[in-house]
Amino acid sequence: MRKQIAAANWKMNLTLAQGEKLMDEILATTFNMGANQQAIFAVPFPYLLTMQQKTVTQKNFFCAAQNCAAQKSGAYTGETSAEMLNSIRVEYVIIGHSERREYYNETDTILAKKVNIALENNVKPIFCCGEPLAIRETETQNVHIEEQLKAGLFHLSAAQIENFIIAYEPIWAIGTGRTASSAQAQEMHAHIRAVLSTKYGAAIADTISILYGGSVKAANAAEIFAEPDVDGGLVGGASLIPVEFTSIIQSLKK
Ligand code: PGA
Repeated sequence: MRKQIAAANWKMNLTLAQGEKLMDEILATTFNMGANQQAIFAVPFPYLLTMQQKTVTQKNFFCAAQNCAAQKSGAYTGETSAEMLNSIRVEYVIIGHSERREYYNETDTILAKKVNIALENNVKPIFCCGEPLAIRETETQNVHIEEQLKAGLFHLSAAQIENFIIAYEPIWAIGTGRTASSAQAQEMHAHIRAVLSTKYGAAIADTISILYGGSVKAANAAEIFAEPDVDGGLVGGASLIPVEFTSIIQSLKK
């Protein structure tokens, strides 16, 4: 069975002391995780090394960066390269979150470069896609998502996209408390898998974990994750509350 993942996205929140307390409380829980289940923590850059050292001792727990540079190395003040992430054994990197696309003008071309540079450095991308409310209101979300997938990922080989992680996050559901219904999530996830299978075939598409993001919390996680094409969640606000995120991890399908 493909991987089922609860991914925390701390965004630009918490001091180091607060982050350590949160992580320690979560790691103190007994999870009984299945071999196909993972918890991933996308923490701010200054905390990555500390958090990596905490999670590395726990089976099925990993750290992620929230971004990486599109360039390999050099005179790019303020940037962090995929090679640096790999050098501290960070396993994952979020690429193309809607906040990066919107506030930092990350275009499809930049994101495709980031995907490549992450893969070249053995850091696995968690590639985000999602439509704004205006697109949903005109019922053109399927085309919108298809375009984001094609632009960001379709240059990859089948071997590169096997076991990939994609997060579908409708922008109107991020941080708004307005969650897509489980039926809406399933519908889009099935569409994403269908789009991937037109390019890579059904067998490869079937290995790709598609996470849902947008106001996931303990109260709705199990229902959303139960959908056949939903392989877990990318969680912002609720990942900052230990009891919420532990429950979300426990809501993953076995
Ligand atoms: P949210 O954020 O859970 O606070 O809606 C999700 C995300 O942006 O990854």
